[in-house]
Amino acid sequence: MNQKNLFKTKNGSLYIGSIDIGRIVKKTGSPLYIYDAMIMRSQMKKLKSAMPKEVTIHYAVKANPNRAVAEVFQKLGAGAEVASGSELTLAMKAGFKPEKIIFAGPGKSEKELKLAIKKQIGSINIESETELFRVLKASTAKRPTPIAFRVNLDFAKKKGEIMIGGPRKFGIDDTQIKNLAKKALNDNRVEFTGFHCFPGTQLANAKTLATAYRQFATWVKTTAINLNMNVKTINFGGGFGIPFKDGDAELDVKALGKSLNAIIKGLRSSPIFSKTRFLIEPGRYLVGPSGIYISRITDIKKSRGETFVICEGGIHHALIPIVLNKNYPTAILNKMNLRNSRTVTIAGPLCTSADQFSRRVKLPQPETGDLIGVFNSGAYGYTAGMTLFLSHPTPSEALVENGDFYIIRKPKKPEHGTRAKIEF
Ligand SMILES: Cc1ncc(COP(=O)(O)O)c(C=O)c1O
Repeated sequence: MNQKNLFKTKNGSLYIGSIDIGRIVKKTGSPLYIYDAMIMRSQMKKLKSAMPKEVTIHYAVKANPNRAVAEVFQKLGAGAEVASGSELTLAMKAGFKPEKIIFAGPGKSEKELKLAIKKQIGSINIESETELFRVLKASTAKRPTPIAFRVNLDFAKKKGEIMIGGPRKFGIDDTQIKNLAKKALNDNRVEFTGFHCFPGTQLANAKTLATAYRQFATWVKTTAINLNMNVKTINFGGGFGIPFKDGDAELDVKALGKSLNAIIKGLRSSPIFSKTRFLIEPGRYLVGPSGIYISRITDIKKSRGETFVICEGGIHHALIPIVLNKNYPTAILNKMNLRNSRTVTIAGPLCTSADQFSRRVKLPQPETGDLIGVFNSGAYGYTAGMTLFLSHPTPSEALVENGDFYIIRKPKKPEHGTRAKIEF
């Protein structure tokens, strides 16, 4: 599986919708992130049809926090998972009803918590004992705040496979939950709905995810029976991986759905789970394959036998390939019909040797002015870079939906700082 194949080519050029990429970039300029809403829809459809009917999908806004992108998922009936007050505001502007929004993440400020409480969102996912106290203090018995506990479960894991377990800044250790849960159950300022667990990111193996879900479900069952509570929500988190290179298998969402179905059936056999709602909150899976980061080649040089293709954009715009340590699928978008006859390293203009987003990849003969496309860039792209490093303008963002093209974020020139005296 290769994400490049999700897009059409004609006469050697990549097409987005019915338009040649060269014509698009003439209008938008570059560097550019472009997203295809049709691919978002098909990812959502694939996931929805594979999951048991009891499972609600919440789009993890952090993956691509452009309002126009969030709107695509809102219109498809998803809920939203947000990680900051600003993402919460964005989700509401995108039309998500407050009760369909979950707010998770460590270090929520008092201002952010008050906003979430005021808007009566679906759930604030509590990440620490002190956060619970802050929520209690800001809530009233008249309008109890729905909360869930994010659990740092000590998974039995294979090295590098699952992100959580051990000492973590995320969630509350499983061993600490019982006492806090008792407090929450006995305080009428909050409505304690259930538990949340995020197993990791870019997990492309259904068995790995199913194992994590099973362990979490078993833990929830023991804990809830112990607490004698009816569990209203269980949130299994996100982390659904996507393929990167030729030959990478797609996450088998059907197999995952079957495992989840069995887990849910198992839980339903106990009356405390008879009304439980089940949630997942993927980001990358829904939006990653829909996006391409596009940057023009500005120079080509050789160093000790190796060819470096230098682009106008680099890891200040597309940092995640480095963080994930992956060569994202890359192509010359105006030479899609030519043979990949050269081995090159694609680098940006930054003064750090980390600024190389594809190392030793095969491409057709590159030339200055060609358009390099980095596929799989719909998630953790635009906002997960270091956009201000070296003071280049930010990229623009564009969306194609139902045959129409939209600029969904204009490029911005960096500010150069200011000097304003502080008076005391
Ligand atoms: C709590 C939480 N939920 C959901 C996500 C989305 O993860 P992914 O994009 O890997 O599905 C993240 C990502 O960091 C997260 O921290």
